[in-house]
Amino acid sequence: MTPDAKKKAAAQAALDYVESGWVIGVGTGSTANHFIDGLAKIKGKLDGAVASSNATAERLKRIGIPVLDLNATGDLPLYVDGADEATKHLYLIKGGGGALTREKIIAAASQKFVCIADDSKLVGVLGKFPLPVEVIPMARSLVARKIVELGGQPELRPNFKTDNGNLILDVHNLSILNPVELEAKLDHLAGVVTNGLFARRPADVLLLGGDQGVRTLT
Ligand code: A5P
Repeated sequence: MTPDAKKKAAAQAALDYVESGWVIGVGTGSTANHFIDGLAKIKGKLDGAVASSNATAERLKRIGIPVLDLNATGDLPLYVDGADEATKHLYLIKGGGGALTREKIIAAASQKFVCIADDSKLVGVLGKFPLPVEVIPMARSLVARKIVELGGQPELRPNFKTDNGNLILDVHNLSILNPVELEAKLDHLAGVVTNGLFARRPADVLLLGGDQGVRTLT
């Protein structure tokens, strides 16, 4: 099975979590796109969706799902999104697509976060995938220096601006043994908007597409 077929299988499995009349959160990336393609077939079920990026908003609108503002919806029953790395404790690294801030907001507002991924994303220790950190442009260099003090090697993501008008530092060489602690430390640096660790609010369900089908971790 190709990695893309595994992503698609995980995305299909997530459709079972969608109930009639709901407004749900929808994430960003190639796995989330498979989920949106699946939603196209059951779109009558949904009252709308909150998108984690402009790209996802466009995709949802194209298939006729109303895109709503989180300020108008209140809490959401369900959020479905991909990840760049995941552990068996359902801690995640996200933000490879640069949408981490809106993703973290939607995760915080959702009762259930279903993460969908191919099985190559499951790791023992987070950090091989460079950890994305969204920074206010004037703090780029300050935050980079602080991250070096924490043992990371930050690299400015080239030619990239987030949907919020900010920059991304991709932090290499981290072996993240305590994701809850590192998430808090990075969030406390002045100039950091969000970091891509989802540990304080991990996923509730991880659907992993693999050669033997879709595995559910909770
Ligand atoms: C987007 O900012 C990310 O958090 C994505 O969820 C992540 O990059 C997964 O992407 P793929 O589904 O394309 O692997």
